[in-house]
Amino acid sequence: MLLLLAVASALMAVATTLALRQFLVSRLDDDLRAANRFFTQVTTAPPGAPPLPGLPPPLLDDAPGRGPTPQDTLDATIVDGRVVAASVYARGGQERAVPVEELPDLVAVPVGGPPVSADLGSLGGYRLMAVRDPAGAVRVSGLSQQRLQETVDQVVVIELVVAAVALLGAGVAGVFLVRRELRPLERVATTAARVSALRLDRGEVELAERVPDADPRTEVGQVGTALNGMLDHVGSALAARQDSETRLRRFLADASHELRTPLAAIRGYAELTRRDELAPRTEHSLVRISSQAERMTALVEDMLLLARLDAGRPLERAEVDLTRLVVDAVSDAHAVGPDHRWRLRLPERPVTVTGDASRLTQVLTNLLANARTHTPAGTTVTASLEADPAGVVLTVDDDGPGIPPDLLPRVFERFARGSSSRSREHGSTGLGLAIVQAVVTAHGGTVEVTSRPGRTTFAVGLPHALPVEAGAQPAHR
Ligand SMILES: Nc1ncnc2c1ncn2[C@@H]1O[C@H](COP(=O)(O)OP(=O)(O)OP(=O)(O)O)[C@@H](O)[C@H]1O
Ligand SMILES: [Mg+2]
Repeated sequence: MLLLLAVASALMAVATTLALRQFLVSRLDDDLRAANRFFTQVTTAPPGAPPLPGLPPPLLDDAPGRGPTPQDTLDATIVDGRVVAASVYARGGQERAVPVEELPDLVAVPVGGPPVSADLGSLGGYRLMAVRDPAGAVRVSGLSQQRLQETVDQVVVIELVVAAVALLGAGVAGVFLVRRELRPLERVATTAARVSALRLDRGEVELAERVPDADPRTEVGQVGTALNGMLDHVGSALAARQDSETRLRRFLADASHELRTPLAAIRGYAELTRRDELAPRTEHSLVRISSQAERMTALVEDMLLLARLDAGRPLERAEVDLTRLVVDAVSDAHAVGPDHRWRLRLPERPVTVTGDASRLTQVLTNLLANARTHTPAGTTVTASLEADPAGVVLTVDDDGPGIPPDLLPRVFERFARGSSSRSREHGSTGLGLAIVQAVVTAHGGTVEVTSRPGRTTFAVGLPHALPVEAGAQPAHR
């Protein structure tokens, strides 16, 4: 804006100055013609005419309606291309002869032509015109442009000052006005920034932020209205998302729960029937029915547990003796897998955390079961515990063949499992590590895995105390 204003001021100043100058010059030329007529008449006046007054009439009041012209007036005579006499009539009326050598340029003034501008050395700038008088000499008349130049200069100075003041004022007022007008936009930006700082990707989201400036008559108000509309839309979409998530979780939990009873019945009847005298083929079928029903029960239990963890079921809060838990879990694992070598590395003092004992047991059981089922016989499995003021680290490592590199990045995902025949023959489902992660996350901890052939380590970090909101938020991967 300031730049535009400066350009406009400059254009206006240049136009005004040029027009003023043009106007003043044309007025000067009128006076010049009058003076020239006068001088020509004076020389050709018949003898005996009244003596001339000190001042040529055009300098006093020759032109009607106009005051005395204040310029210095020049009168010069050229004979045979040479200046023979020259005088300047000053404003006060005094006549002063000028040495003709100082005025060589006068010869160049076109005779009978329009007035021209010329710089006459020490006399300054003049408007000049020349006519031939009846006697055959050339009379050159001139009027000083000094006053004209002074007027123009003064106008230029005034224009510069006015433009500077106007620019300064426009700048200050502009900054103030623009700031004031943009303040609502800042509020819009603040609201947008606050919304982008919200966590929208999980759980129940309260999208209460709104732009206060929503007047649709202003541009900023329109932006605010649009933003508010978008926030309403996003808010209801998030609510719908949360709703359908909750419904899905509840459905999963209910379905898993409902499946437990019929599965238990299938297992029970299969066991019962096996007690009878049976043909070998029927016997075999019943064994398969029992084992598959057991597998399905385990799967349903896993799904139920995951669904409950997802739904943010509160954890039990109790002092859990992790040392005891590790010792028990390893001795159980030893009983199930006597072909593996089981090692324990425990600190002197018992390690305890606050949490849910049965779920933490499940973490350990799953990790030890993996180390047993996904490694060949003779593998050494070490369970160790370390405690420091920050928390507890529980590690289970084995020197088995390791997790396949393509599986490793998604090993904690649900139903992610290796394709080896060993995994399949153990009827693995790929939920074990997902449960480990969900339980650990619900306890406010982390679980990490490193694996290469010969060394696979799962490290579970747990805080000593359960975080306040644990269990309140659904555990996510
Ligand atoms: N200690 C380990 N050594 C080698 N591979 C492992 C080890 N632990 C896990 N894996 C690989 O990671 C996959 C995922 O393990 P996860 O415990 O989640 O499922 P699973 O053991 O296959 O099934 P589930 O535990 O539900 O019965 C396994 O199928 C296996 O391929
Ligand atoms: Mg497993």
